[in-house]
Amino acid sequence: MAALPNISNIREMQAWSDHARREGKRIVLVPTMGFLHEGHLSLVRQGRQKGDRLVVSIFANPAQFAPTEDFDNYPRDLERDIRLLAEERVDLLFNPTAEEIYPAGYQTYVDVDQVSQPLCGAHRPGHFRGVATVVLKLFNIVRPHAAVFGLKDYQQLQVIRRMTEDLNVDVEIVACPTVREPDGLAMSSRNRYLTPVERDAALCLQSALGKAEALVVGGETAAQRIREAVVEEISRQPLARLEYADLRDPRELCPVEEVKGPTLLALCAWVGKARLIDNRILAGEGP
Ligand code: PAF
Repeated sequence: MAALPNISNIREMQAWSDHARREGKRIVLVPTMGFLHEGHLSLVRQGRQKGDRLVVSIFANPAQFAPTEDFDNYPRDLERDIRLLAEERVDLLFNPTAEEIYPAGYQTYVDVDQVSQPLCGAHRPGHFRGVATVVLKLFNIVRPHAAVFGLKDYQQLQVIRRMTEDLNVDVEIVACPTVREPDGLAMSSRNRYLTPVERDAALCLQSALGKAEALVVGGETAAQRIREAVVEEISRQPLARLEYADLRDPRELCPVEEVKGPTLLALCAWVGKARLIDNRILAGEGP
C-alpha cells in the first residue's frame, strides 16, 4: 500500500494547495477530528467524486469543547486513521498541532449568530463558535474548492453553510447522508462509549424518528404532537435521557409549529456516557 503524504505545517500546506491550483486541479477537503469510522470514510469517498486532489484534515479542535467537556479523552488513533486513509488513496493528510492552529496570542473567532443558538448550541455554549472558527481557518490553510460534511451533524452543516455564504467564502459545501449501522444506529465516534446493553438502548433515537415520520405520513401536522410522541418514545427507554427533541425550519433552524413542508426533526439523548444526536427531515427533502 502506498504511504500517505502528510503535512502538519500551515505554510507547507498552503504551498501544496497553491501548486495544485496552478496546475488547474480541483482540491476537495474532508475536515475531521480523527478516530475515523465508516461515516468519515463515506465523506472521503464522496470527496473523491468532487475533485482531483483529496485532502483530509485530522485536528481535534480544542476550541469546540467547553471546559466541562472531556477534550483530553476525545478518542484518538492516528496510526489506524492513516492506514484507513491510505487505503482510500487520499492524496494528503493535513494534521497540524494545536499550537500551529492557535499560537500564543490567538484571539480571533467566528460567531454565526442565529443558527448556532438552538439545539446543540443551547446545550454546548461556544461549540459552534469553535467549529466555525476552525473550519474557516482550515479553508484558509487548505484553500479547497469544495469541502464535505455529514448530515448527521445537521446544525454544524447549517452553521458552516451560513458562514461561507455570509463571509463570501468561495468553497462549495457538499452534504453527505448519515451512515448507519445495519440496525439503524447513526455511526459516531461516541458509540464506542456504549456498553452492549446501552448500544441496544441507543436504538430508541432511530425508533423515535421513525415514529415521528409515521405520524407525518399519517397526516399529523402539529409540531407539538409530533414532539410529544418523540419524547414519549425516548422516555420508554430507561437508559436514555433526552436532551432535546425539536422541530425546526431546515435552513434557518427557527421553530415551526405546523409541518407544512420539509421540517427538521433534531434529537439528542444521552445513553450512558454517550451523547448521541440524530435527525430526520420530515415531509420532504432538506435544503
Ligand atoms: O465534525 C467534525 O468532526 C468537526 O466538528 C469538524 C468539522 C472537523 C471541525 O472541527
